[in-house]
Amino acid sequence: MRIAVAGKGGAGKTTISGTLARVLAAEGRDVLALDADPNPNMALTLGVAVADYDGGEGLSHDVLEHREIDGKNVAVLAQPLDELLSEHAQDAPQGIRLLRLGRPRSAGGG
Ligand SMILES: Nc1ncnc2c1ncn2[C@@H]1O[C@H](COP(=O)(O)OP(=O)(O)O)[C@@H](O)[C@H]1O
Ligand SMILES: [Mg+2]
Repeated sequence: MRIAVAGKGGAGKTTISGTLARVLAAEGRDVLALDADPNPNMALTLGVAVADYDGGEGLSHDVLEHREIDGKNVAVLAQPLDELLSEHAQDAPQGIRLLRLGRPRSAGGG
């Protein structure tokens, strides 16, 4: 199951995302939480202590490779997901893993 939460700033996206992640983990599901917010604070909502917060820059663009598949340009992971998670994901309470996707390099940088 994949759940995406989007909306305007201050609408409650991080609160809802973190709460959903914790409820699903409490039900025994394997939860990977992705924080794509340029102001990444889902770690705190998941219960990561401030002292344990890995406040790096998130993933670099190098995690993706661009390939042509069936005549279309597609971006695929450059390494297996498990490997990527072991290198980049942070452990949060309840067995949740958190991956921060990184910030735009500049305004309009995508
Ligand atoms: N259902 C709610 N009722 C009242 N306050 C809320 C609710 N959901 C979130 N908040 C508060 O609103 C603020 C913004 O929530 P947040 O989840 O950070 O929004 P977003 O991630 O969309 O910017 C926070 O202070 C949060 O505690
Ligand atoms: Mg937020």
